[in-house]
Amino acid sequence: MSQTPQSHDNQSSALATDIPVLVYKTEPISGQTTGTSGMRKKTSVLVSNPSFLPNWVQSLFDALGGPSVLSGRTLILGGDGRFYNKTAAQTILRMAAANGFARVIVGRNALLTTPAVSALIPAREALGGIILTASHNPAGLDGDWGIKYNTGSGAPALQALTDAIYEKTQKIFEYKLADFGADIDLSSEGITSFAEGKFVVEVINPVDHYLTMLRSIFDFDALRELMARPDFSMLFDAMHASTGEYARVIFGIELGAGFRAVLNADPKEDFGGGHPDPNLTYAADLVDALDPTKNADAPQFGAASDGDGDRNMILGRGVFVSPADSVAIIADYASKAIPYFGKKGLKGVARSMPTASALDRVAEEKGVPLFYTPTGWKYFTNLMDAGKINICGEESFGTSSDHIREKDGVWAVLAWLSILAFENRDKEVGQFVTVQEILLAHWRKYGRTFNLRYDYEAVDAADAELLMLNLKGMAAGIVPYAEEIRRVLEFEYKDPVDGSVASNQGIIVQTRTGGRVVFRLSGTGSEGATLRIYFELYEAPSADMPNKDLNVVMKDLVSLALDLARVEEFIDRKAPTVIT
Ligand code: G6P
Ligand code: ZN
Repeated sequence: MSQTPQSHDNQSSALATDIPVLVYKTEPISGQTTGTSGMRKKTSVLVSNPSFLPNWVQSLFDALGGPSVLSGRTLILGGDGRFYNKTAAQTILRMAAANGFARVIVGRNALLTTPAVSALIPAREALGGIILTASHNPAGLDGDWGIKYNTGSGAPALQALTDAIYEKTQKIFEYKLADFGADIDLSSEGITSFAEGKFVVEVINPVDHYLTMLRSIFDFDALRELMARPDFSMLFDAMHASTGEYARVIFGIELGAGFRAVLNADPKEDFGGGHPDPNLTYAADLVDALDPTKNADAPQFGAASDGDGDRNMILGRGVFVSPADSVAIIADYASKAIPYFGKKGLKGVARSMPTASALDRVAEEKGVPLFYTPTGWKYFTNLMDAGKINICGEESFGTSSDHIREKDGVWAVLAWLSILAFENRDKEVGQFVTVQEILLAHWRKYGRTFNLRYDYEAVDAADAELLMLNLKGMAAGIVPYAEEIRRVLEFEYKDPVDGSVASNQGIIVQTRTGGRVVFRLSGTGSEGATLRIYFELYEAPSADMPNKDLNVVMKDLVSLALDLARVEEFIDRKAPTVIT
């Protein structure tokens, strides 16, 4: 514990648990802003101020309703394995006991992916779960740290709760910690009981429950047969983050792919110095390993996940499956290739507004509704709770279904393996149907949605606002725009379940040639503003379309959009920082 009692006015008091409770005086700390991804900070901020974490956790417990609500309840606790998580877990256990929780279920070494926590919360009838993660942001003393709360259904906290937490952080004057006498051993599974069982810490295997859930969704026998084929092999890059534990057990042992199928499998507190974001830039080693011009033994299938295991990237030998194509293809195959959907059928599908529209054409063909939501998983979970959708995806490498209320990286990988198993079920060795063939067949049937994203990171926030304001002027009909543009509109979403309205969700530009460009400011950047521009151009099926070069096809649309928004002029950048 790193609290410095000298600077606090402590008193002991006996609360419901009968474990000695220390009450620490504190005061509000600025910078505890909390959104649906929780609170994210530079790790050094937490390490240098021992009240930073307790202030936030006490504010969370107070916002949930305090001891009268927490009393007797269970909390799930886990995280992505980054530096400071183990320290934080000890503090949270002590605070959970002091604030009335009866039980905390914590992953061994405080490790649990976001999807695993989301699955455990309803399964163990917990009040909610705390996830120690800053997702794909780099970790370590110089990196980022984060904490978020998911509610009883397993979904991320909605804005009303995150606003309430923040409000509490601005008024806080004390926090409570139980005194266990020593740290609780989180390195091995088992139960530690305090005050004759009034407070229990249950350290669990992080993978077991999640794996049991996946077994009930997918046909593991079919997946094992795929793995056993001599003409198939796969590589999963865990990027030294939380999914290493899961991948070794699920792909390596359970499906029989072997340990060599998992790269960077050891979770490390600094993610090995890397940036665990599964995309073409940050998972470049995996991309190279799948490239037959660089690796003669390139496997048939490759995938990666992010720090906390909710994002995914799908690759075939020499081919990248864009997230927009990935969710469309999963939806197309779901009912025949994945038993969970074979039983339930496809109810409806959803994509976030900036995500290219490949999914729409699958929905149309299947005769199921398609929902089109603002960026952020919470819009999907509302639709799931109402039974309106059971598959959804986002361009930001998030894909999942209603089996949990979060996006799920390993689930998406198993969905793709299921598609490969289905296509190859009767195929002789040597006749393997590849990821590329599945992608080409999809384009031949539905047409191809060329898509591209430009990110301009760490730009001046005021400049980025002005650029957006100018575009809003076009949407409002005040600022004129070029003849090639058909329409400029601002995206507003009315939730079909609760009727709430989300406005200011980005600018959509439609061109006369059928192109679409979306402009929005990132909600997750940590420095200045990040301008994201999403380009999309649909081409109906044709013989030469599959072989077209993405950058050639998009060239005119890109320059038209950059001119329209006067990007270089407003933000003083000649080129984007990342292209995906
Ligand atoms: C988080 C959310 C996603 C969302 C993404 C957008 O990862 O969980 O649902 O798509 O942020 O990030 P951005 O930086 O584009 O706002
Ligand atoms: Zn994540």
